[in-house]
Amino acid sequence: GPTRLWGGRFAGGPAEALARLSVSVQFDWRLAPYDLAASRAHARVLARAGLLDAEELGQMLAALDDLESACAAGEFRPTVEDEDVHTALERGLLERLGTLGGKLRAGRSRNDQVATDLRLYLRDHARGVAARIVELADALVDQAGRHIDTPAPGFTHMQPAQPVTFGHHLLAHVQALLRDLDRLRDWDRRAAVSPLGSGALAGSSLPLDPVVVAHELGFDAAVANSIDGVADRDFVAEFLFVAALTGVHLSRIGEEVVLWTTPSFGWVELDDAFATGSSIMPQKKNPDIAELARGKSGRLIGHVAGVLAMLKGLALAYDRDLQEDKEPVFDAVDTLELVLPALAGMISTMTVRVDRLAEAAPRGYTLATEVADWLVQRGVPFREAHEITGKLVMICAARECPLEDVSDEDLAACSPHLTPDVREVLSVRGALAARTTPGSTGPGPVSEQFAAVQDRLDGWREWVGES
Ligand code: ARG
Repeated sequence: GPTRLWGGRFAGGPAEALARLSVSVQFDWRLAPYDLAASRAHARVLARAGLLDAEELGQMLAALDDLESACAAGEFRPTVEDEDVHTALERGLLERLGTLGGKLRAGRSRNDQVATDLRLYLRDHARGVAARIVELADALVDQAGRHIDTPAPGFTHMQPAQPVTFGHHLLAHVQALLRDLDRLRDWDRRAAVSPLGSGALAGSSLPLDPVVVAHELGFDAAVANSIDGVADRDFVAEFLFVAALTGVHLSRIGEEVVLWTTPSFGWVELDDAFATGSSIMPQKKNPDIAELARGKSGRLIGHVAGVLAMLKGLALAYDRDLQEDKEPVFDAVDTLELVLPALAGMISTMTVRVDRLAEAAPRGYTLATEVADWLVQRGVPFREAHEITGKLVMICAARECPLEDVSDEDLAACSPHLTPDVREVLSVRGALAARTTPGSTGPGPVSEQFAAVQDRLDGWREWVGES
């Protein structure tokens, strides 16, 4: 019959509708390797407490190893009868060990097991996600390195603002990704606490050692409070926030690539392998990766909101509502693992149209601030300099000409301060070269930023295990 973990006090089996609602094995099966690792640690601690003798421990560990290989090979699979991953794996253990298999459940509950498994899963996958973030950052840094002094228009309100270097713009995205990496590692420090030993909620009367178990599973410590151990899902909510914010950063990259590949911008051409066509319009080359990065950020944002809403009304300690924590977590990990490599490939293979960027950089009077700053250097208060330059822009707009093409008479008409040698600041290269302060867009500070970002990324390679 079915290996339900709780049949004793029930006269009959569960109703079909209950079983269908309750079952989670179709999605929590991916916790199996982590549940098996936690089971090994638990078996050892039972042996240390004298609850398994050496021979039993040996058999138990061998059966867990065998079960693990059978799971990996797909020879052992959960059935519809298995309520969850813990039930399925206990069945596998009983099939291998008979009654000895029933000893492993002593001193633990699915409540501390599932909390432990999910932390193990997430700590593992956080490193994988971080590795993919580093790869995307590498792709952006690589492009930035080719465009440290490539002039490009910079925007505010999506209106032409001031010239920037394209490398500086790309590195702005890298700075956001570096903060995402920081957040992941910071999250990991708080998540590195083991709930195993909390039992259902009150700990155990058996002489088990949660700290030994914690260290064996790679945690820094065991939880300080068994009720908190089974009730807390902060580590889920926090991870989902980090995933959502990362998703928002990917979305903003996506949105820009969508714009940059439009004919009106024409700043970037995508490699054929990272663009898609249309089923009806033969001329189309679409930036679907960028759009999916933008679109999928929606579900990541939804997962944080969903889990917080699920948690907000829960009385301590464990409530079954908590089972709803897993699908959002798995989907968040899956989504990032899909989007990040696609974006990295798209960015590293795209062709930047330096000619189009250079042409667009001064358009829309983006050098007007240079004129105002030039007047300030000659003692004109900025307030007045702004007025004067505004007049100049008005004249140019009426004449439909760029700033540098106005006549000496037009300059003088704006202000006696505006002598013809103002033209010396009317170059994009000059405006960029004049920006030498740290963090600004001039080629000098951008090459310093480029080197600093490379160092920081190298610092991440060890933590992410280069996986
Ligand atoms: N499958 C459950 C979950 O994911 C763990 C089992 C705890 N169930 C219980 N009835 N106490 O949260």
